[in-house]
Amino acid sequence: MSHDLYLAAKEAMGKAYAPYSKFPVGAAIRTEDGRVFAGANIEVASYPEGWCAETTALGHYVMGSGGRISEIAVIAARMDKVTPCGGCRQRLAEFAGPSVKVHLCGQSGVAETVTMADLLPYGFRGDILK
Ligand code: THU
Repeated sequence: MSHDLYLAAKEAMGKAYAPYSKFPVGAAIRTEDGRVFAGANIEVASYPEGWCAETTALGHYVMGSGGRISEIAVIAARMDKVTPCGGCRQRLAEFAGPSVKVHLCGQSGVAETVTMADLLPYGFRGDILK
């Protein structure tokens, strides 16, 4: 992964609105044409109404008509290696194929790189609904 995707996730993490958990998270999605869409978690006083960094990044990706995803980076301020929550794995899998690399990051950089297939084996697929 080139360093810029990590930096984009980290910069997004700096914009997190996480006054309740105090657990800022950032995510960055790169598309095959080289664009990067980033996002942070946004919390709400009615706790279940908040959402994750990956979800914000996906919103930017969809609004930007992002195209095929090539790689994803996720970082959390208070973890050496953050992993996307279950809901975000399903959301990411909606747009990122099984071979897409997901860089699990911490303050000192990429701690581990896995694939979407690693994160969501046997995931529910929407094909049957089409
Ligand atoms: N969070 C994310 O942004 N992404 C994840 O994959 C895990 C959790 C956020 C949600 C909430 O704002 C805070 O981390 C604590 O759960």
